[in-house]
Amino acid sequence: MVSQARLVSSTLIKKNWMTDEVVRLTFSDPHIPALAVPGQFVFLRPSPLNYPLLRRPYSLFDVDEEKGVFDLLVKVVGVGSRILSQRSEREMVDLIGPLGNGFFLSDNSGQRELLTWSDSKHLIVAGGMGIAPMHFLARRLKERGEEVVVLFGAVSRNEVLCSSEFQELGALFVVSTEDGSLGKMGKVSSLIPEYLSRDKRIQIYACGPRGLLKEVVELSRREGLLCQVSLEERMACGLGACRSCVCKVGTESQFEYKRVCRDGPVFRGEELIVEKG
Ligand SMILES: Cc1cc2nc3c(=O)[nH]c(=O)nc-3n(C[C@H](O)[C@H](O)[C@H](O)COP(=O)(O)OP(=O)(O)OC[C@H]3O[C@@H](n4cnc5c(N)ncnc54)[C@H](O)[C@@H]3O)c2cc1C
Ligand code: FES
Repeated sequence: MVSQARLVSSTLIKKNWMTDEVVRLTFSDPHIPALAVPGQFVFLRPSPLNYPLLRRPYSLFDVDEEKGVFDLLVKVVGVGSRILSQRSEREMVDLIGPLGNGFFLSDNSGQRELLTWSDSKHLIVAGGMGIAPMHFLARRLKERGEEVVVLFGAVSRNEVLCSSEFQELGALFVVSTEDGSLGKMGKVSSLIPEYLSRDKRIQIYACGPRGLLKEVVELSRREGLLCQVSLEERMACGLGACRSCVCKVGTESQFEYKRVCRDGPVFRGEELIVEKG
């Protein structure tokens, strides 16, 4: 694939705190919404100063091509995300994007082979901030009239994110929490069997902690389901040069290393060897 990513300066036009730790940032930019596909990310400089030096990767949470805006969902976990979350509306943020290979959809302009869509049910499985790339994906699927079920897992009810945003798209949004404070008590993977209907072809899209991804990939292999996984790795260059972000693709006995930033972040479940982080 020829990268269409560009270095742009986007204006932060809106900040909306979703929880104590997660902020939705809306940027104005005509380039990224026109080119992006779900699952791609931007690589941004959190601060206008030189600290922190390295850019940080963030998934495209949503794009609006008509309005020329896109959204990121940022969880404050360290220095870069804290500075980013403190940027003010109307400030310019330096970013590169859209980057990476997104989810394999039939209008991805030939980036990957096409999937057929008839009689499919789309199960989105997200743990914590793994929800970030899924809203844009759900939007595209619902635009095609597809059935979309979002299974979202959080530690506790105060970390449950974006239920109304997905419901507005027409997706079914089902929650599990580890402490049982909202939805079913337990891990989000325990919700999956209930939604595996026999009459429809199931396509699973997963993002979140490694343990969850491993479970989803293993279940998909057992059940013969189509599965796509979006990986998060720490990134240095973000452009495929430094190989700091590799993952294993192949089988346990015969595998190769792929770069999450360039070859991913989305990989087919059947080709991925998920190692617990
Ligand atoms: C392709 C991709 C898409 C991403 N999309 C989002 C998103 O939409 N929203 C979001 O909030 N985060 C996302 N992340 C994670 C985000 O990039 C990191 O949280 C961010 O870089 C942390 O920077 P920091 O300076 O705040 O933290 P640091 O000070 O660098 O680190 C703080 C803590 O966060 C951990 N950490 C840092 N980077 C990562 C990472 N990539 N994965 C797991 N743990 C990490 C560190 O180990 C450390 O414990 C994404 C990561 C990738 C690779
Ligand atoms: S971050 Fe440098 S190769 Fe991926």
